[in-house]
Amino acid sequence: MKTFKASFSSKTTTFWFNDSMLSLPARLKGERLIFVTDEQVFASHTRLFKNFETIVVPAGETHKHQGTVDRIVLQLIERKADRKSILVGVGGGVVTDMAGYAASVYMRGIRFGFVPTTILAMVDAAIGGKNGVDVGVYKNLVGTIRQPDFLLYDFALLKSLPHEQWVNGFAEVIKHAAIKDARMFSGLENTTVAKLKRDKTALASLIERNAKIKIRVVQADEFEVGERRLLNFGHTLGHAIENELALMHGHAIAVGMVYAAQISSWVKGFAQHSRLVTLLEQFELPTNARFDLDKALAVASMDKKREGNTMNFVLLNRLGNAVVHKIPIDDLAAWFRQV
Ligand SMILES: NC(=O)c1ccc[n+]([C@@H]2O[C@H](COP(=O)([O-])OP(=O)(O)OC[C@H]3O[C@@H](n4cnc5c(N)ncnc54)[C@H](O)[C@@H]3O)[C@@H](O)[C@H]2O)c1
Repeated sequence: MKTFKASFSSKTTTFWFNDSMLSLPARLKGERLIFVTDEQVFASHTRLFKNFETIVVPAGETHKHQGTVDRIVLQLIERKADRKSILVGVGGGVVTDMAGYAASVYMRGIRFGFVPTTILAMVDAAIGGKNGVDVGVYKNLVGTIRQPDFLLYDFALLKSLPHEQWVNGFAEVIKHAAIKDARMFSGLENTTVAKLKRDKTALASLIERNAKIKIRVVQADEFEVGERRLLNFGHTLGHAIENELALMHGHAIAVGMVYAAQISSWVKGFAQHSRLVTLLEQFELPTNARFDLDKALAVASMDKKREGNTMNFVLLNRLGNAVVHKIPIDDLAAWFRQV
């Protein structure tokens, strides 16, 4: 087990890497813990929850809406959770997003922590304090920014993770490498999902390295006025097609990254487009999709990255080096058409 502390503006979050979920009561001695998980994680690890108070919600993105958060809040009321209770979200990004949001609004905010159980949640969704829900096709439109007290990484939980969810999560790993870490990008070029599944040490260190990339970016810009926007690489188009095509988040942003890389080559002279495409394919991710461009543009224009008639769009100068570029929405539409 390895402890790492990261300070944010209002709180220091403790990260326990390579730990066991069962050690939580000892780590948070005397505190009342209430767990939130989804049906699939609960069914895969029922014994782990045996001695814990647990709220179980339906699994999947279609349930990431205000109605499910209301159900969590109602259960907290029924269980007489008070301001000292700690809500622990155990699951993928859908659960951690909703648990963090529910904890942030229940009694105007109680403490919370996460045990992420997907690659995507471990390297991205559970880190950084953004929590919330979708409203119809609009992803994460309603929510809060509030940091968790802790994140506990229990890699044994990944044993039950379906293969497609491993692949899904590696899209964010490749994104981190593309925007921030050229050496990690080269390292990824020498491996595959199958190899990483077998090599627990390599996997643990890759996840920790990615978690720390996300932590550093968030620390530099917690409320997303600059640096943190880089994490949106591939996400403008990705979010716009994710719901329309019912794609997994990672698949959608893989396609979004390919579009953004192509636009980067036109606007910034980015010359490594084919390495990105090859790596995404090597990690079994899609690099293209058929979608309705007008619909996607309509959704993209409601994106939180929009400011008036311009969009803060993330482009690559080179692998490991990204910039935020303001693009008029009309130009963006033309670029997308051209790709
Ligand atoms: N808050 C943020 O900063 C942020 C960043 C990126 C993504 N997100 C959000 O994260 C969500 C996607 O997260 P996700 O990809 O983890 O999806 P998810 O939470 O829906 O999990 C995917 C599926 O895997 C199942 N699952 C999870 N862990 C499992 C395990 N260990 N064993 C068996 N099954 C398991 C879940 O039940 C679910 O069916 C999206 O809603 C996205 O918007 C948030």
